[in-house]
Amino acid sequence: MKLLEGKVAIITGSGRGIGKAMAELFASEGAAITVNDIDADVCKATAEELKKNGFKAIACKADVTKDEDVKKMVEDTVKAFGTVDILVNNAGITKDAMIHKMDDKLFNFILDVNLLGTIMCSKYVIPIMKEKQYGKIVNTASVTGLMGNIGQTNYAAAKGGVIGFTKGLARELGLSKICVNCYGPGFIETRLTAVKADGGDRSALGMPKGIHDTAIAAIPFGRAGQPEDVARVALFFSSFLSDYITGEVISVSGGQLV
Ligand SMILES: NC(=O)c1ccc[n+]([C@@H]2O[C@H](COP(=O)([O-])OP(=O)(O)OC[C@H]3O[C@@H](n4cnc5c(N)ncnc54)[C@H](O)[C@@H]3O)[C@@H](O)[C@H]2O)c1
Repeated sequence: MKLLEGKVAIITGSGRGIGKAMAELFASEGAAITVNDIDADVCKATAEELKKNGFKAIACKADVTKDEDVKKMVEDTVKAFGTVDILVNNAGITKDAMIHKMDDKLFNFILDVNLLGTIMCSKYVIPIMKEKQYGKIVNTASVTGLMGNIGQTNYAAAKGGVIGFTKGLARELGLSKICVNCYGPGFIETRLTAVKADGGDRSALGMPKGIHDTAIAAIPFGRAGQPEDVARVALFFSSFLSDYITGEVISVSGGQLV
């Protein structure tokens, strides 16, 4: 039996990284997928790859912080597949700096993509889910949102906000049989955690080798997580296996946060 047979899932930021692994796993479990990304090229490439493998998929280039983009993404999904059963708010980004060196624009940008994007996408699928009295909203926090991290106060505030939003929304939507849950990845191998040149721009994606190696050494499992490790938890929250669970947070961190 496939866990998501006949379901329709929107996965934001699924052109690459953890979101792409989810798109592949969810499709293989029977879901039709709306691949969303702000990067049109990776968005299209992932949707094409899914279709080539015999799965149902559409590409929706959209910026999750833009109301009009999100509205259209949800409309396009309904046009293509008839409904929305699952929303995974995966799109997210880091731009690190110590707080005294961080300008307001950088702080707000991280809040916008990670937190407001999650709120915006949820807002547009909730009426559809309420009408059906069924839905799964799965949000992406981070262990940083639970325990903080030096140079990431903006990201910690945004991901901590995602956890609070998850718990509030879970209570609001309980009677509509819509589950709202959240997972917090630890150190997962994607471009966000890839090694970049020491002395490079601190706010660019990736991290210096020293910080990268220290982070891995602090993981009890002794290795970084893979996007598939996170995708399986998102699958659990998106399927009937978690039908009596809402407002929860699971960290996917190889023991980094216990
Ligand atoms: N990699 C990790 O170790 C780690 C740890 C904790 C949390 N996370 C979270 O997991 C999620 C996925 O991260 P990843 O490591 O796969 O990163 P990634 O950069 O590989 O993938 C994220 C995708 O989101 C897209 N995106 C960024 N801004 C967007 C926007 N405004 N609208 C639509 N799409 C947008 C990017 O283009 C990218 O394709 C993020 O929310 C991230 O914060 C990752």
